[in-house]
Amino acid sequence: MKINREDIKILYTLDEIRDAAKKLGKEITDFYKDKTDVIHAVCILKGAIHFFTELVLNIDIDVIYSFIHITSYSGMDSTGRIRVKSWLEEDLEDKYLLIVEDVVDTGLTLRYVMRYLKKYRPKDIRIAALAEKSSHDHGIKVDFVGFHLEDQFLLGYGLDYDERFRNLPFLGYVEK
Ligand code: IMP
Ligand code: MG
Repeated sequence: MKINREDIKILYTLDEIRDAAKKLGKEITDFYKDKTDVIHAVCILKGAIHFFTELVLNIDIDVIYSFIHITSYSGMDSTGRIRVKSWLEEDLEDKYLLIVEDVVDTGLTLRYVMRYLKKYRPKDIRIAALAEKSSHDHGIKVDFVGFHLEDQFLLGYGLDYDERFRNLPFLGYVEK
């Protein structure tokens, strides 16, 4: 399917996303502040890039950055297979991890990431996501969620359709 810019409708503007990130940043700060003065935030590239940068600016304790690059989508659907393009090198033993994801759909990506990050024996792992789709009973507890959404195909603000449209300055959608 070919998608043109004109087909993409705005779901949330940049201001609305920033407000959501501010609210989540406060929730996250409140959650950790009595537990630790530093957390390790793990950004799942590429989709979470903008959400990650916005979110960490709103967390009022020290945040150490880690990046992993994983793909599972092709076109508009999950392929059901995970490909790891690059992985982090930090020592995570006994650390407080906050995984930062763009959208949780089937949960495949997060299940994979959680399984491997647990092997580092961190003290605690939490998940923050810009959006969670209600379409699948993915069985993963997303601790901090920006938006609860229907099963829509999303684009923009980091999310792509075959690598395009990531830099749209809003979270958009097209009808499937
Ligand atoms: P899951 O593994 O099925 O939960 O899907 C999560 C991954 O697929 C995310 O990391 C996203 O990058 C990508 N993804 C899920 N839904 C969408 C979408 O609607 N548009 C673009 N990418 C998506
Ligand atoms: Mg992704």
